[in-house]
Amino acid sequence: MPDLYHLARPLLFRIDPERAHAMTIKAFKAGLVPACKPPVKDPALEQTIWGLRFPNPLGMAAGFDKNAEVIGPVFELGFGFVEAGTVTPKPQHGNPKPRLFRDPDHEAVINRLGFPGVGMNAFKTNLEKFLAGKSRPPGVVGINIGMNKSQTEPAKDYAILIRMLGPMADYLTINISSPNTPGLRDLQQKEPLTALLETVMEERAKSCGKHPPPLLVKLAPDMDDDRRGEIAATLMNAGIDGIILTNTTLARPDYLPEPFRAHPGGLSGAPLRDMSTQAIAAFYKFTKGKIPIIGVGGISSGQNAYDKIKAGASLLQLYSALVFKGPAVANSVNEELLMLLKADGYGNIGQAVGVGLNNK
Ligand SMILES: Cc1cc2nc3c(=O)[nH]c(=O)nc-3n(C[C@H](O)[C@H](O)[C@H](O)COP(=O)(O)O)c2cc1C
Repeated sequence: MPDLYHLARPLLFRIDPERAHAMTIKAFKAGLVPACKPPVKDPALEQTIWGLRFPNPLGMAAGFDKNAEVIGPVFELGFGFVEAGTVTPKPQHGNPKPRLFRDPDHEAVINRLGFPGVGMNAFKTNLEKFLAGKSRPPGVVGINIGMNKSQTEPAKDYAILIRMLGPMADYLTINISSPNTPGLRDLQQKEPLTALLETVMEERAKSCGKHPPPLLVKLAPDMDDDRRGEIAATLMNAGIDGIILTNTTLARPDYLPEPFRAHPGGLSGAPLRDMSTQAIAAFYKFTKGKIPIIGVGGISSGQNAYDKIKAGASLLQLYSALVFKGPAVANSVNEELLMLLKADGYGNIGQAVGVGLNNK
């Protein structure tokens, strides 16, 4: 029997993608969350990383809940953690519409949203509301921070966001890899990255009290191994706690059709899958497995998730698969992953991290 999502899918795909997303957020806010099975619960999927208890390894990636409005409903879908944001200090509209495109045949998305959002004050109010809720579900809440388009001194925006939101975050992600904010990806170069990391580490020490949240850096897939090695060394020197791999890509594989492939912006979904897995493997090697990695890019099945774990990811996220597979996707990925882990004789996911690399 097809579920409600699969019955509604043809209709949903006729609606403008950004409108469909806005409608989903509105429905979630109104408490209209699709009935899913209870989240998959098994000790093999549970981990403690950075002192945080993750009930399962699959998180909702940044960009779905930019304004921290629907964290509770996202947990109801079976995710073990939610990364809200990217949030910027000031509210901003983002790029002109249309700016979000889908290719259902290839399960691909292109976006050039450019961090539209309510800004950090309204974001904070939304987050406070969630955190104060009586029935807060188990799970971890990360906050992904980025700079306003108008900012010419990026470090200032990251510092104020850490001051304002750091004390409320289970973890913080420094996003320097969205392709839609001019100049943002330049922060992935050694000198600007070193300077930025110095500022953010200092700010965290100043503003986040005795239990500072772990600081993660989210990177692009579009770089060669020399650059990856350089960045890995810079992150380790700075004492960064985690790496998220990867953001969307500027690449356009040949098989993607026109006019979809011609849209400027970041590509996500199935065509990003192997690129991101390769980036995970490279960073796992360069960091000798010492910095936990969150793997993201094209995950839509337990096998995709398992491949990223074997390449060195300790945790996982997805976004695009929610569009194409529907709200049951988190549970199905976790269920399949659990079967794969058990079939290979692993008692816990942590034992499988990086086993696919030939130096292990
Ligand atoms: C519509 C859309 C908006 C996104 N917005 C953000 C964002 O604000 N910040 C961010 O770090 N990543 C953002 N991303 C990237 C995702 O978090 C993720 O890294 C990427 O989509 C790859 O995962 P996926 O293939 O499962 O979608 C966005 C992705 C999409 C599709």
